[in-house]
Amino acid sequence: MKLKQLEGLVGDLQQFSNPKVELEQYPTGPHIASRMLFTAENSFGDVSNKVVADFGCGCGTLGAAAALLGAEHVIGIDVDSQALEIASLNAEDLELDIDYIQCDIRNLVWKGQAVDTIVMNPPFGTRKRGADMDFLFNALKVASEAVYSLHKTSTRDHVRRAALRDFNASGAEVLCELRYDVPQLYKFHKKKEVDIAVDLWRFVPKK
Ligand SMILES: C[S@@+](CC[C@H](N)C(=O)[O-])C[C@H]1O[C@@H](n2cnc3c(N)ncnc32)[C@H](O)[C@@H]1O
Repeated sequence: MKLKQLEGLVGDLQQFSNPKVELEQYPTGPHIASRMLFTAENSFGDVSNKVVADFGCGCGTLGAAAALLGAEHVIGIDVDSQALEIASLNAEDLELDIDYIQCDIRNLVWKGQAVDTIVMNPPFGTRKRGADMDFLFNALKVASEAVYSLHKTSTRDHVRRAALRDFNASGAEVLCELRYDVPQLYKFHKKKEVDIAVDLWRFVPKK
């Protein structure tokens, strides 16, 4: 599938109808979501014929993009049942077979099918300190081949140190720096839209 086609399909997905600020529910826009999965597939071969999990899947954008690129099986995990309902409807609309699990990532004990690749846009930890690191810690425990994740550029050194030193990653590479558009979703947002610098990371778990 071509990048533009993928971007168009994920751009049509329904997003949070009642976003919860405490869960940092911001959707990944179609531009970033499509490039993230397209890079994982075309530069590293981490998507097609792989088992892919979308941690903090929200309305399912990243997992849907993985399924559209030919993942063997996609599993979306989120703590919020309302988001998971929307994700299921999105998958149904695109005729994608995706499994959704309601679970707090911090309590995840993975006993399911072996997961090759994890894709995620975790909470950045602005509401619950360390939420981004909880996601990364658990993703590196579950994935066998690669973890793709977005983190604020301002946290780059911290993220690299934690991944390599504390979470047992054997590789941690920033693939690119992106401008992440945060739409005006919450009352405390003064501006219509702000953009923040985020890094797209690829982590390699230790075998
Ligand atoms: C920044 S949003 C990203 C949503 C979606 N992945 C996307 O790309 O559009 C973060 C997501 O993580 C979920 N989340 C936050 N804390 C969580 C936790 N402890 N366990 C599982 N999901 C969580 C939120 O409900 C939200 O859907």
